[in-house]
Amino acid sequence: FDAVEIITTKRDSGVFSDAQIDWVVDAYTRGVVAEEQMSALAMAIFLNGMSRQEISRWVHAMIGTGETLSYAGLATPQGVALPTADKHSTGGVGDKITLPLGPLVASFGVAVPQLSGRGLGHTGGTLDKLEAIPGWRAELSDAEMWKQLSEVGAIVAAAGANLVPADKKLYALRDVTATVDCVPLIASSIMSKKIAEGTGALVLDVKVGSGAFMKTEEKARELARTMVDLGRDAGVNTVALLTDMSTPLGLTVGNAVEVEESLEVLAGGGPADVVELTVALATEMLAGAGITGVDVAANLSNGKAMDVWRRMIQAQGGDADAALPQAKHEESVLAEADGVMVALDALGVGTASWRLGAGRARKEDPVQAAAGIRLHAKPGDVVRRGQPIMTLMTDTPERFERARASLEGAVRIGPEGSRPDSRGIVLDR
Ligand code: URA
Repeated sequence: FDAVEIITTKRDSGVFSDAQIDWVVDAYTRGVVAEEQMSALAMAIFLNGMSRQEISRWVHAMIGTGETLSYAGLATPQGVALPTADKHSTGGVGDKITLPLGPLVASFGVAVPQLSGRGLGHTGGTLDKLEAIPGWRAELSDAEMWKQLSEVGAIVAAAGANLVPADKKLYALRDVTATVDCVPLIASSIMSKKIAEGTGALVLDVKVGSGAFMKTEEKARELARTMVDLGRDAGVNTVALLTDMSTPLGLTVGNAVEVEESLEVLAGGGPADVVELTVALATEMLAGAGITGVDVAANLSNGKAMDVWRRMIQAQGGDADAALPQAKHEESVLAEADGVMVALDALGVGTASWRLGAGRARKEDPVQAAAGIRLHAKPGDVVRRGQPIMTLMTDTPERFERARASLEGAVRIGPEGSRPDSRGIVLDR
């Protein structure tokens, strides 16, 4: 095969053969196809798309570049069989749902083998959030994962270097060639990792709105449909929920502050939207693993999910009782008028949190554990001019100015009696 011929096929809107896909994905991962050739190919795919069959083959070729895990035969130390279920979110602002969700699902006897990522751009990363907990470590060996799933029921860990190495290279390339927000490439990136991870059931939380990769409902639906088909074709029991990401989830955005809010949810409290989405996703994960008719929310208020959380954090070296880091500097953002907050833009808030130091500009940058934003009002709330509506937090105060700049236009206050442009959290299944 010849890379130029394969690029030409897609440039001219042709259809790849299975053998072309297998070769180019493998050869790129081995360094035989050059970065500039894969850049051109990614752009040709971005512009001309791939058919369902091409995407499916692409996913298999990606998986084939690394190892695959399997939890067949997983059981508790007492010998009780453990089905597996996982969730993947396409990325959002204030999206800490994985933190209470894994322990909640595990508290019903379903193991959650969650492999997560770090934040990039304005979207937060689950591993960055958990690393705010003193001592907690993201790297687990395959043997450690199996042991912890058996004994505790839940893990949140970094994907190892050998899990879909093709995606590690290709994602970094897409990031710098404006080819990230492309349905065939996002779907194959996400699903190759989730299929290789070895979960039996999978629930996809596909975000739509300003804070999501997919800004329109039409695109989000296309992504959801494509991923569900890929999962089912690979024998993973997959469903997707379409959920709102036009405003941040909950009242915190950042790292340590999102852990703090997750603890409130695990203690039976927390903001209603975070609880609603956690319970909705848990219900789907349990159903995917064959468990229905249980009172899902009960295990948040009776301490069972919290018990799993504590054991999960401790098993990964974390101190579940340690105080979380506090930011050295805080500034308030004040309401500019009397009235009702009608919109609070997820992208603006996510970008502000990122600029405060909660996120990174390049993959190798560190993040600040204590940086982020506390929200004191959400869409629908009555506000008074001069009242603090957010607290910005950072260890490096020179960041406040740029964070404020990204909040420009992010808050809209309407006259008394206005209703927010809210659509609810779960838009469709
Ligand atoms: N998340 C991924 O893992 N891959 C993408 O391409 C986009 C979001």
